[in-house]
Amino acid sequence: MAKTVNIGVIGTGSISFAHLDAYAAHPDVKLVAVADMNAERAAETARKYNAERSYSNVSELLADPQIDAVSICTWNNTHADLAIQAIRAGKHVLVEKPLSRTVEEALRVQEAVRSSDRILQVGFVRRFDPNAQLLKRFAELGEFGELYYAKASNLRRLGNPGGWFADVARSGGGPLIDIGVHVIDLIWYLMGKPKPVSVSGNVYHKLGNRSNVQGLSFYKAADYDASLNTVEDLANAVIRFENGASLLVDVSFTLHASKDESFVKLFGTKGGFEVDPEVKIATEKHDIMVNIAPQTDDKGFNFAKAFQEEIAHFVASVQNGTEPLSPVEDGVAVMKMLRAVYESAEKGIEIRLD
Ligand SMILES: NC(=O)c1ccc[n+]([C@@H]2O[C@H](COP(=O)([O-])OP(=O)(O)OC[C@H]3O[C@@H](n4cnc5c(N)ncnc54)[C@H](O)[C@@H]3O)[C@@H](O)[C@H]2O)c1
Repeated sequence: MAKTVNIGVIGTGSISFAHLDAYAAHPDVKLVAVADMNAERAAETARKYNAERSYSNVSELLADPQIDAVSICTWNNTHADLAIQAIRAGKHVLVEKPLSRTVEEALRVQEAVRSSDRILQVGFVRRFDPNAQLLKRFAELGEFGELYYAKASNLRRLGNPGGWFADVARSGGGPLIDIGVHVIDLIWYLMGKPKPVSVSGNVYHKLGNRSNVQGLSFYKAADYDASLNTVEDLANAVIRFENGASLLVDVSFTLHASKDESFVKLFGTKGGFEVDPEVKIATEKHDIMVNIAPQTDDKGFNFAKAFQEEIAHFVASVQNGTEPLSPVEDGVAVMKMLRAVYESAEKGIEIRLD
């Protein structure tokens, strides 16, 4: 393949700009076209990012022979079908998280990828954060020993993005599938992807979307609409792995909390570390407990840089024909954990995974 990778971006709503900015900054990328069922939004985005063409029909973009690879930045309910359509049209795919809404959809995507020679990268952007990569390297070098416990919270006191995010038919769920997916994947990846064996979870629909609250701003879907809300506002879970490690997580779109809270912590036999809100390593030296703060430019999670790294990795994978860091199989594995949380909450029992 020629060095330049010709890109199409599907879905030109809120998150597409993180993709488009990163593609625009990449020296080997040419943005050829964008597509959105909102034709005006697609055309406006094409103008802003100097794309040659804009489409209101995704099939037309996928039939465009000039395009090598696409980013899929549409609603969750469209990810699986669009990814399969793109693969069958011969395009490489970077699909936003979550891979799909259901395990069945995720498995269909996996089958399509496996029966093709195309690359599919799941948009697990947290993996590409420079701090996550730094800690992954330390973990692989044995710095923390055996990682046996992890804990993550992403609690928004006000942050239901509305529109399709709040419509379970299109999103597949609320904060668990939207933001829980990031931290569950990140921890699972940093732990070395142990096999999940059981999941126990709870979800709550207690507070609604609290669109009545004034004075605080938050991330919103491009077509923000607070009139419909069928997703949970809080979820928590314990995930147990075959090697005995466990993960405790809670996430919310809204909660009567005094402030937002976001942390990711992992604990091992030789040391522990925190990814969020700042990188910190805790260990012991000569009978003294010490905290170590790696000295780098990146203090906390750097959203723009993580997207640049994610896009650069996708482009390199396409150019070199190499498997991405977040392959379809990982998207399937994470989807199995997420769905098991919902199933556990619904049935009130622990779910075994095979
Ligand atoms: N990686 C991250 O940190 C991150 C952050 C936010 C959102 N996301 C993910 O990105 C995706 C999009 O989220 P968003 O916040 O940009 O939503 P959004 O509603 O702002 O934008 C989605 C766009 O997709 C378009 N669209 C939907 N279905 C379509 C179809 N079948 N054909 C053509 N266009 C279609 C909509 O018109 C809209 O413009 C979601 O899967 C979400 O989970 C990821």
